Amino acid sequence: EMLEKGGYDHFMLKEIYEQPRSIYDSMRGRIYPLEGKVQLGGLVEYSEKLRNANRIIIVACGTSWHAGLVGEYLIEEFARLPVEVEYASEFRYRNPVIYENDIVIAISQSGETADTMAAIELAKEKGATILGICNVVGSSIPRLTHGGAYTHAGPEIGVASTKAFTAQVTVLTLIAFYAAQIKGTLSQSKLTSLLTELESIPSLVEKALATNDIIVKIAEEFKDSTNCIFLGRGTGFPVALEGALKLKEISYIHAEGYPAAEMKHGPIALIDEQMPVIVIATKNSSYEKVISNIQEVKARKGKIIAIVTEGDTEVKNMADYVIEIPHADEAFLPLLATIPLQLISYHIAVMRGCNVDQPRNLAKSVTVE
Ligand code: G6P
Repeated sequence: EMLEKGGYDHFMLKEIYEQPRSIYDSMRGRIYPLEGKVQLGGLVEYSEKLRNANRIIIVACGTSWHAGLVGEYLIEEFARLPVEVEYASEFRYRNPVIYENDIVIAISQSGETADTMAAIELAKEKGATILGICNVVGSSIPRLTHGGAYTHAGPEIGVASTKAFTAQVTVLTLIAFYAAQIKGTLSQSKLTSLLTELESIPSLVEKALATNDIIVKIAEEFKDSTNCIFLGRGTGFPVALEGALKLKEISYIHAEGYPAAEMKHGPIALIDEQMPVIVIATKNSSYEKVISNIQEVKARKGKIIAIVTEGDTEVKNMADYVIEIPHADEAFLPLLATIPLQLISYHIAVMRGCNVDQPRNLAKSVTVE
C-alpha cells in the first residue's frame, strides 16, 4: 500500500497532488488553442441536438453535483443555454418536466451511483438526449447514456473526491466552450484566448499546490474548531459548497458553504470570535462585493481566511490569513480555488487523527438508493 501511495501519507494527498496531471489528461487531445477549437469526440454526434436544445439538465449526487453547479455558470455564461442542476435523488421522484429537446448531462465519478442511474433512465424514457461525464471507463452510466466525455482523472481511492472533481469541472468547461463554438455565442478571438489560458491551468494548479506550507499553519490554528463557514460568489459559490463538504466529510467539523451575500439571511447569526470563515475573494467581477461581505464578518469578530489573487493587498489588510493563488480568467477560478480548500480539509483531518482516506459512514460509491 505504501508503494501505491507513491510516498504520500494518504491516497487523498497523493490525489490532490496529481491534479495538474489529471486536469491536463482531461483536456488532452480535446483543445486546439492554435486553431481556437474544442473537439469532444463523444459529443460530435449530438452537436445538432446541442445547437437546438432549449435547456440542459444536469443530474448528479455529492461532489459531482457541485461540479454540475460550476457547469451551470459556465454553460450559461458561454453558450447562453439555460441550465438546471438537480440532485438525482430529488429529480427522479418528483415527476419532473422533461422535453425531447432537453439534454441531460449525468455526472458521476464511479459511474455506478444508483440515484443517478435512475434519473438517467427516467429522462431517457421521456425522450431526452443523455450525455455522461464519468471517470470509470466501462462502468454502468456510460453504458446507459447516448454519448458523453470521460474525465481522465485515473483511479480515485480516497473516499473524499478531489481529483475527480477538478477533472469533472475541466470537462464541463470544455462542454461549455464546445456548446459556445456550435452555437456561435463566443467570438473566435475570445474562444481562442480562453483555450490558450486553459492550456496553462495545469501549471497554475501546480502553483496553487505550493500554498501547502501556509495551509499547515492555518490548519494548526483551526483544527479544534467545531464549526466553519465557507463563502463565495459566482463560481466561487459551488467551490465554497465543495470546500465545506470536504471539511465535514473527513474532519467531522460541521461546515456550511453559502453564497456570500446570503450569509446575512441566516448564517451571520452564527458568527462570533470562534468562527473561522473561509472566503473566496479572488480578483474577479464580484471582488468588491466579496470585500463588503468580509467586512460584515469582521464586524462580528469572525476569523477570516481568504483565498486571494496573488499580489492582493486590499483583502490582506482585512483578513487573519490569506492564501494566494495565481491570477486566471474567472472561468478557471474553480480549478484553482478548490486546491487550497482540499489541502485545508486534509491537514485539519490529519491533525485531528481522522481516517482521511476512509471516513466513517461514507462509501466511495453509493449503489443503493
Ligand atoms: C459518494 C462519494 C462522493 C461522491 C458521490 C457521488 O457519496 O463518497 O465522493 O461525490 O458518492 O458519486 P459519483 O461516483 O456518482 O460521482
